[in-house]
Amino acid sequence: MSAPHSLVNSPADWWRHAVIYQVYPRSFADGNGDGIGDLPGIIHRLPDIAALGIDAIWLSPFYTSPQKDAGYDVANYCDVDPVFGTLADAEKLIDTAHDLGLRIIVDIVPNHSSDQHEWFQEALASEPGSPQRARYMFHEGKGDSGELPPNNWESVFGGPAWTRVIESEGTPGQWYLHLFDSSQPDFNWENPEVWEMFRGVLRFWLDRGVDGFRVDVAHGLIKEQGLPDNAYAKEAPLGNRGPFWDQDGVHEVYRDWHKVLEGYGPDRMMCAEAWVLPLEKMAWYVREDEMHQAFNFGYLATAWDATDLRNVINESLSAFGGVGGPSTWVLSNHDVVRHASRMGLEYQSEGQPTGIGPLSPNKPDAGLGLARARAASALMLALPGSAYLYQGEELGLPEVIDIPDEMRQDPTFFRTSGERYGRDGCRVPIPWESNAPAFGFNDTGKTWLPQPDTFSSLARSQQVGVAGSTLELYRSVIELRSKHALGTGSLEWLTGYPDSVVAFVNNGVAIIANAGDGDVALPEGDILVSSGELSDNLLGPDTTAWVKLPS
Ligand code: NOJ
Ligand code: CA
Repeated sequence: MSAPHSLVNSPADWWRHAVIYQVYPRSFADGNGDGIGDLPGIIHRLPDIAALGIDAIWLSPFYTSPQKDAGYDVANYCDVDPVFGTLADAEKLIDTAHDLGLRIIVDIVPNHSSDQHEWFQEALASEPGSPQRARYMFHEGKGDSGELPPNNWESVFGGPAWTRVIESEGTPGQWYLHLFDSSQPDFNWENPEVWEMFRGVLRFWLDRGVDGFRVDVAHGLIKEQGLPDNAYAKEAPLGNRGPFWDQDGVHEVYRDWHKVLEGYGPDRMMCAEAWVLPLEKMAWYVREDEMHQAFNFGYLATAWDATDLRNVINESLSAFGGVGGPSTWVLSNHDVVRHASRMGLEYQSEGQPTGIGPLSPNKPDAGLGLARARAASALMLALPGSAYLYQGEELGLPEVIDIPDEMRQDPTFFRTSGERYGRDGCRVPIPWESNAPAFGFNDTGKTWLPQPDTFSSLARSQQVGVAGSTLELYRSVIELRSKHALGTGSLEWLTGYPDSVVAFVNNGVAIIANAGDGDVALPEGDILVSSGELSDNLLGPDTTAWVKLPS
């Protein structure tokens, strides 16, 4: 059990309006200098993160894992991988965060395990039809001798979603399902043993004081009865259509987990990673007896376009409000191109690119992207609801494009023979100091992905206390958001602005975001913050300002 801490008086529904910062452990801070971030590194840097004014931290997986998918391939859900530290480090991290007034959300990966998980190893060593195999999705193949996969499903990372095993007699046998890499076999959620195992995992971390869980692939656990062919096989890989996404049965799982969390008090929460559209359907995940948040990926995928932004904001508030939940705004995470680059792309309408690399035809304009990203973040943090930040966005970090092929690590790159660059570009270790080895990520200079020279001027040390820096913009906006209670406020659209401007009032603060080409006059009042320089009270293109209206 965790020690008493400074959060005991915070409201039980803190998550409704929280600003939550995602730490990606591999790339945050490296305590032992081996080139991979770790838990002691995070503990050391926690005060810097608390200084941003955030409410909570979400940690991507640090569990025992062969790291085939950067930790989303879990071999033991109740222990820490030696690359990240020890269980004692995890406990210390939770307690240190709590003492700093920060809540801790950990990742849980229930759709699949690593192929190195003890259950999968037992399944491989057991006969077809055995209880050990029944914990995963083993099926006979099609064709005269079962030589064809059971259906046409494709892996999100590219290639078939089925792999055939060699049985004990040395001949090819059954196939197992993996919606992701072949090293990530899908669990069989029709099996009560799987339900019981995950209840135990939740309790294990709740017993150690965690405040919540981010639920990986929350919409994928249940597959359609009979495993029919996927009629939408040619759609975008992160699309939500197909016989393995968003089946009604998944909601039973979260109703069950809700009860487990309730047993630990009213303030524990879960956030769904569910790429489900329309948002009205995504909102089902945050019904009263299920989860508490669901990442608003509809918002993340919206281009820097005022009409599209107004529409998605309206749709979000109505969808999530309709089930009594908050909208959970987000612009970046470890799976998407960083928004400082995404918003500088010429053709944003093409949607979310699956990575940008040296040969990508559509390359971002860095200056434009950064201006828009700052404006977009200042807009997002003024919206009622909760918001997630991804480590490094507060520094304005861009996607790293020039990663040599031989250094890339994302399974997406390999499974598509390089056709999709994948997610390495948003996962590069972040810069803390401009003139230190690995920009202060560690003191040896080793990094698991190469850092570009441009990180030097973006390092935290260059931005702390510097008026107008991206870091100080985030800090001011988060402070003002809390002071004016915008997270628990409500939105009223302002009229009289051009279509290319997003303008609304929240708790007496006018938010004006200019996505057009011309200047826009700001309303009368006190200018609280602006994402770019103003001249004569005029808001230039790609800039957002907050103005306290006279009461
Ligand atoms: C979503 C995670 O965010 C991503 O990084 C991972 O590769 C897949 N789920 C599979 O676990
Ligand atoms: Ca390390």
